[in-house]
Amino acid sequence: MQVLPRHRGRRRHCHREGGKTGPNLFGIVGRKAYSEEGFKYGAGLVELGETGLVWDEALIAAYVADPTAFVKEKTGDDAAKSNMTFKLAKGGEDVAAYLASVK
Ligand code: HEM
Repeated sequence: MQVLPRHRGRRRHCHREGGKTGPNLFGIVGRKAYSEEGFKYGAGLVELGETGLVWDEALIAAYVADPTAFVKEKTGDDAAKSNMTFKLAKGGEDVAAYLASVK
């Protein structure tokens, strides 16, 4: 499956080994939310982690479409939000499938 270049740029900018903006996404599929050692998550992702959510392709595709709406829905907390302001209008399934292919 070919990764769409325009997605890779922005995501790679934020999410890479030791990324400053977002947690490392290598191995994210099958990983618990809010589990990247040393990354300073926002309160919303901490709450999401406390729900025990484990990322799979469908959840990543839903999250990246609107991270804050996803966090509100999964935590049931209307005040919760994600520090990830980036939203992917379309192609989330492709990106999630790519992330599932890279461990
Ligand atoms: C298609 C591209 C992207 C995907 C698939 C993606 C996916 C994710 C996922 C799954 C998480 C939660 C990780 C965890 O629980 O450990 C996350 C968090 C985060 N991402 Fe992204 N991301 C993308 C693009 C971006 C971009 C472009 C930025 C920067 C502008 C960004 C900034 C962040 C931040 C700051 C967090 C932590 C959120 C918090 O602590 O509230 N992401 N991302």
